Amino acid sequence: MFMKKAIVYYSYSNHTKRIVDMIKQKIDADVFEIKPKEPYSTDYDEVVDLGQEEVNRNYLREIEDININLNNYDTVILATPV
Ligand SMILES: Cc1cc2nc3c(=O)[nH]c(=O)nc-3n(C[C@H](O)[C@H](O)[C@H](O)COP(=O)(O)O)c2cc1C
Repeated sequence: MFMKKAIVYYSYSNHTKRIVDMIKQKIDADVFEIKPKEPYSTDYDEVVDLGQEEVNRNYLREIEDININLNNYDTVILATPV
């Protein structure tokens, strides 16, 4: 059976998205974006502080459902910022 590639990514300020767009020009892949249910603030310093706090207390922010059937893909590329 013909299997496809998927790129699943999260990007806060679109750097990762730009890389995903470059990958997409090289390979045929379906792209899925991870979106937090409650978006992060647009204030960078605020997000850095909050991110640190979320890591410290092992908090996993809820994300929107991603409509992906992994059985349809033989390769999944996961792209995230550091
Ligand atoms: C909450 C948070 C924490 C970050 N921590 C680091 C870090 O520890 N080291 C680092 O080099 N960059 C850090 N950054 C910078 C991001 O890696 C950088 O902005 C990246 O380009 C974001 O990718 P994006 O545009 O796809 O969201 C942090 C950014 C955020 C928002």
